[in-house]
Amino acid sequence: MTKLVINAANKKSKINKEIYGHFSEHLGRCIYEGIYVGEHSAIPNRNGMRTDVVEALKKIKVPVLRWPGGCFADEYHWRDGIGPKEQRKKMINTHWGGVVEDNSFGTHEFFELCEQLGCEAYVNGNLGSGTVQEMSEWVEYITFGGQSPMTEQRAANGHPDPWKLNFFGVGNENWGCGGNMNPDYYANEYRRYQTYVRNYDSASPIFKICCGANVDDYEWTEEVLKTCFHHSEERVHGFMDGLSLHYYVFPEGWDTKGSATEFDEKVWYKTLAKAWRMKELVERHGKIMDRFDPEKKIGMIVDEWGAWYDVEPGTNPGFLYQQNTIRDALVAGITLNIFNKHSDRVKMANLAQMVNVLQSVILTDGADMILTPTYHVFDMYKYHQDAQLLDSYIETEEIGLEDEWRVPNLTESVSQAQDGSLHITITNLSAEDAYDVETALTGYRAETVTGEIVHGEMHEKNTFEEPQRVQVRPFEGARLADGKICFTIPACSVLHLEVKGT
Ligand code: AHR
Repeated sequence: MTKLVINAANKKSKINKEIYGHFSEHLGRCIYEGIYVGEHSAIPNRNGMRTDVVEALKKIKVPVLRWPGGCFADEYHWRDGIGPKEQRKKMINTHWGGVVEDNSFGTHEFFELCEQLGCEAYVNGNLGSGTVQEMSEWVEYITFGGQSPMTEQRAANGHPDPWKLNFFGVGNENWGCGGNMNPDYYANEYRRYQTYVRNYDSASPIFKICCGANVDDYEWTEEVLKTCFHHSEERVHGFMDGLSLHYYVFPEGWDTKGSATEFDEKVWYKTLAKAWRMKELVERHGKIMDRFDPEKKIGMIVDEWGAWYDVEPGTNPGFLYQQNTIRDALVAGITLNIFNKHSDRVKMANLAQMVNVLQSVILTDGADMILTPTYHVFDMYKYHQDAQLLDSYIETEEIGLEDEWRVPNLTESVSQAQDGSLHITITNLSAEDAYDVETALTGYRAETVTGEIVHGEMHEKNTFEEPQRVQVRPFEGARLADGKICFTIPACSVLHLEVKGT
């Protein structure tokens, strides 16, 4: 019998809802077709945003959306995406398939989308190929409420009122596609650019995000913090409010990543071991951040994460379109449990990417739409948003087929929602074994327990022919006796238990 221990009296950090954030880049069919079809499309839409996709995203309570990239951000010039659509300048999307970008989705459309989703806006600025003035004027265009050349232009384009800009990224992956900079050079550029990201609305200052490391580049974190972390009285967070981290799971490596749907048990464990590595990355980058910022005033912002496979056969290699299986449900469940448990430092995370690109929650094919196993995990985990992390511990054993790729059999996190209910999310990484779990709960008297689960054979997926094969199903197997909750968690599964009591 495996023990899960929960001490509800020991309340830890708040799990920021932004940990459940998403990312939408001008890449393949993410924005165009996946989200935006234009006002004149035969696909039902409101102001160009497809209604089926928006409704599905509202259900999982998307808290924040990052846009326009990604690598695209550092070659995006925002002025190309405002004004009458037929006059908007076209450009080549050099990173993603070399296709023509007609800029019909721009600043106004992004904020319209955020409004329809009811989510916060995270705009990523262009430091790699844009000027300080251009970045500064974009922020003015979006947020200034008074009269200025930028706001006159905004009003002429149909939006007299400013929008609320919650988060602003000063460049993306500037160690790579965002300019191939070394940390010292970027750090100084960051200091300069961020100076002109003005807070026109002092009541809700913009949360500024500095470009952080790729995977385990600890030197980048160290160097950038040395130059940019600055603690001042008037601005408690110094030059930055957040430092990003990007980490993708490539099962087989960068050149050949591996198929999204065809894999054996060895690759199953290898993929999950790579997902589990997020814990080490968050902790090691976190330790460096602790040295500069022991009070944890700046957030770690994991604004790109997820599984990255070879594209589906026959699709444009530059569009990064991939299927999504039970394996992806596990990658999501494991990663989100890690973020929850490190929510004292991780303040936002953005799954890459929202629709039709990488580990999406939604796939579309023309007018059709399907929800992926990853979507269903976000649906079950939404109860953790803005909840209080509770102290918890689960007994684990190491499993796997190869020495290098061993993983714990189970991962978990537990939170208490504002209505007092407890939410336990557990992943079973075993390809074959179910586990009996007994939960000892202190500091809380459980009265009822209900459950829901995403599970299946490891390759199971939803397709346009069979869209409901993987879904959230009721889990009837949890029993409450003598204050203990007992259940058997099946192999290859992500489980959510809701406990009500006092
Ligand atoms: O998400 C796809 C790409 O991955 C992003 O554009 C880039 O930031 C990262 O390398």
